[in-house]
Amino acid sequence: MKADSKVLERINRLREEINYHNYRYYVLDDPEVPDAEYDRLLIELRQLEAEHPETIVPSSPTQRVGGMANAAFSQVRHRQPMLSLGNAFSDEEVISFDKRIRERLQTDSVEYVAEAKLDGLAISLQYEKGELVVAATRGDGETGEDVTHNVRTIDAIPLLLRGSGFPNRLEVRGEIFMSKQGFARLNKRQAENGEKLFANPRNAAAGSLRQLDPKITAQRPLSFYCYSVGVAEYGELSQGPYRISSHYQIMQLLRDWGLPVQREIALLPDIRSCLDFYRQILSKRDELPHEIDGVVYKVNNLLQQQQLGYISREPRWAIAHKFPAQEALTRVMAIDVQVGRTGALTPVARLEPVQVGGVTVTNATLHNESEVLRKDVRVGDSVIVRRAGDVIPEVVSVVLSKRPKDTTAFVMPSKCPVCQSTVTKEETISRCSGSLICHAQRKEGFKHFASRQAMDIEGLGEKLIEQLIERGKVRTVADLYRLDRDDLIGLERMAEKSADNILAALEKSKQTTLPRFLYALGIREVGVATALALAKHFGSLPAIMSADFDALIEVPDVGPIVANHVLDFFAEKRHQVIIQQLIDAGLTWPDMVLDSDDGESPLSGNTYVLTGTLKSMTREQAKQQLQALGAKVSGSVSAKTTAVIAGDKAGSKLSKAEQLGVKVLNEAELVALLTSHSA
Ligand code: IVH
Repeated sequence: MKADSKVLERINRLREEINYHNYRYYVLDDPEVPDAEYDRLLIELRQLEAEHPETIVPSSPTQRVGGMANAAFSQVRHRQPMLSLGNAFSDEEVISFDKRIRERLQTDSVEYVAEAKLDGLAISLQYEKGELVVAATRGDGETGEDVTHNVRTIDAIPLLLRGSGFPNRLEVRGEIFMSKQGFARLNKRQAENGEKLFANPRNAAAGSLRQLDPKITAQRPLSFYCYSVGVAEYGELSQGPYRISSHYQIMQLLRDWGLPVQREIALLPDIRSCLDFYRQILSKRDELPHEIDGVVYKVNNLLQQQQLGYISREPRWAIAHKFPAQEALTRVMAIDVQVGRTGALTPVARLEPVQVGGVTVTNATLHNESEVLRKDVRVGDSVIVRRAGDVIPEVVSVVLSKRPKDTTAFVMPSKCPVCQSTVTKEETISRCSGSLICHAQRKEGFKHFASRQAMDIEGLGEKLIEQLIERGKVRTVADLYRLDRDDLIGLERMAEKSADNILAALEKSKQTTLPRFLYALGIREVGVATALALAKHFGSLPAIMSADFDALIEVPDVGPIVANHVLDFFAEKRHQVIIQQLIDAGLTWPDMVLDSDDGESPLSGNTYVLTGTLKSMTREQAKQQLQALGAKVSGSVSAKTTAVIAGDKAGSKLSKAEQLGVKVLNEAELVALLTSHSA
């Protein structure tokens, strides 16, 4: 059926709306409607287009995936070569970069734009009359590969530019990358399907973009930020209506035209501020949703850029200040097997010490038996180890070409290396069946019980726990509260003073909270968040202990597996005895304010970000109290943040809040907020 004007109007309206919501989502990072509403619009458009196929145009938001798999990529010659960047690894190198620039320009001051260096792959996007026509990889810089069909599937890349007034031909350059979360999900899926795993998000992004079948690319979580325009267009942009004279203005213009620009970008007056920016970004590297490998500094003024020009494929006006590498090559000296709190056996690679990102790494986790076998890590192998933020270092892969002769594959022991009990296996996890007789499990259980987020017993560390267990001073965690000075004095490095400190810390820990206590019990798969959810839902320990399966799975985030772990835990007589002994020893906590029936807590729907140091409580305590009132607490500021709570020495999160016009609360205001809502 041919579309009448009313249908055509509706189709156009839907396309506009969908493009607008894409812009809100990908460029402004501030979606206006829930996903379901967006999906509804897309479904309606698909439906209308199916009824009236003659209305379909390539730029319609329904036309991201189309066509057949290619046999090969064709070549695209770049109209302007795609250059690379010089690197700096130290402040000194950056300072001499700035000095060279000021000498060449004969000026005292140069303004820079600093941007995070995205760890993905470069892409060139050609727009004609606002419509995406060609997308090409960098290739050798002169010629790249035509990946248009694949790039069209990336939702963050607009098929149509927004508004009007853009040049007839516009080449946008930027980076395609995969978020850390997207990468983890992709690798999990690959493993489940028995397919090859990617070593890091950059390889995953590159592999996903170079698929001959766009339908595969479409399923990969790729994203995009732009960082420049094809050099030839600068001239065009400097004239006519745009009057562009700086890189920063270009980025603003691109954003207005619907191209996503990263938030880690700043216009800075001099190179000193660039170095400050570098440190700021380095400190929040791990919080960012995607990987970055440094910061790029660019001379802001386009005329100055032109004056500086290029040297051997690199601009003189820009430099990449790299972060310390997160990966390094080393050798496996041994593979040990560690026993965790729940008896799970974890193979650990003992490594020749190596510097990774400024820290010496000597151990790396190999996760479990199937991981070791899949990566085929053997004693004597040269391996790539990776350390990212607080995450335990891990072995990424083996360099097979360096494998010595006569190595043997890893075998998981059939007896626990600590207590010799039989090892059982559920799915990929091997477990020691010794539970309480296994000293390793007991030790880990004590460590967990005493840890910061659990009972927070200061000074009760691994060495002390080991001695207490080995000397038979404690069998269960309840025994901790029966210790006296005589039990402690005489242990290694334990004089009267330190013994008193431990006893005081134990005494102090008796005043606790229900979520902490629940978490401290070490129920399988009950972490901080689940403990909090259980406490909020049931309000008291007896209510949790007597809850049945159906009641447990009512709790947000509790599924059948966790529900069964909770039931099994409290069903065990010895656990009931330990809990009673702890209560008899004086452990107390206030009951919780129950989540009201309609699921509306006083602060539900609000998101807070905590930054800086608080005086009256720790950030963790503030977080727990906010969550108990139904608020979300996030690690990063966005336009959706309700308020940033700034303590002393608040840093980049505070400036981000100011930048985005997000409300800022001080500590007194936080306390007022908490007390006004608590029961
Ligand atoms: S500007 C003239 N800005 O780094 C070169 N590049 O090592 C213009 N990259 O090929 C590049 N983030 O793929 C620029 N914010 C950023 C970047 C960035 C990542 C990549 C880009 C380039 C490579 C050079």
